[in-house]
Amino acid sequence: MSITDRESVEVPPSRHMRVGDRQDTAARLLASAARKSYDPLVEVDWAAPVPSDLYGMTPEWCSLYGTELWERMTQEQRITLTKHEAASVAGTGIWFEMILMQMLLRDIYSHDPATPHVQFALNEIADECRHSTMFARSAQRFGIPSYRPKRWILNAARLFKSTASGSLAYGGTLFAEEILDMMQRDFMKDARVQPITRTVSKIHVLEEARHIKFAREETVRRVKSLSRAKIAYQRLVLGTTAYFIVTCLVNEQVYAAAGLDVEEAKLAARNNVHYHDMIREGCRKTIEFLDECGLVGGPSKVLLRRAHVI
Ligand SMILES: [Fe+2]
Ligand SMILES: [Fe+2]
Repeated sequence: MSITDRESVEVPPSRHMRVGDRQDTAARLLASAARKSYDPLVEVDWAAPVPSDLYGMTPEWCSLYGTELWERMTQEQRITLTKHEAASVAGTGIWFEMILMQMLLRDIYSHDPATPHVQFALNEIADECRHSTMFARSAQRFGIPSYRPKRWILNAARLFKSTASGSLAYGGTLFAEEILDMMQRDFMKDARVQPITRTVSKIHVLEEARHIKFAREETVRRVKSLSRAKIAYQRLVLGTTAYFIVTCLVNEQVYAAAGLDVEEAKLAARNNVHYHDMIREGCRKTIEFLDECGLVGGPSKVLLRRAHVI
């Protein structure tokens, strides 16, 4: 270990950096889970008809909204595209939930199961099992195939999911959880959106609030003991993780499903300033928080800029 490796990094104090006792927080989150947990197999009316005139998600969150191509599309194409994009976003959600479940289980592996901390982590894994099933069901109900990241990305992420721990694991989780949270808060309130998407979004938002609290506090606790070298490493990996989460949200096949030319649609999305603004706003809280933890910076900022996260 080098000398720099052993030096601890001064992290600026902020309101986010003050966290309560780990077990107290977990006990409160467990009490919240006892009050508000949902079984989507029961709570969602999966047999309800799917109205033909409602969007799959809030159109303003669509990667083509505001482009000249969007203006040229028929209303039917817009509805089809938003259904597929919602399923693609949820598919990215499933991908990251599967990663998170494995990281959580590794994190608590040797801890005392009689503690609220371990019991809450297990409860969160149970939530994520239900969420991934719910997202998959929702796509099935709309007759949409399972959208997943490209094979090489799925494989490359095996290293992250098998090794990431501490503030890296929880910080990475925040990118996925908070951008989905920002989108789904709009979907659940939007009368133009399919009832199934609205219910699924509401369940997810309510249960994810606990996960976000848990991940933020763990990030703060764990970042404090990191050396300068480890901070630099985590900034790099976190930036890369955020880049792949955000750029995997929209699978290019969604454009073909809406009868569009895939290359033309990809170009329109790549130049869509409105969409980039939505992504930046969706990631704003995460970036502010991780920056206060000292976890944003270094070469990975290039990737964050390229993905319009900053
Ligand atoms: Fe979830
Ligand atoms: Fe979660």
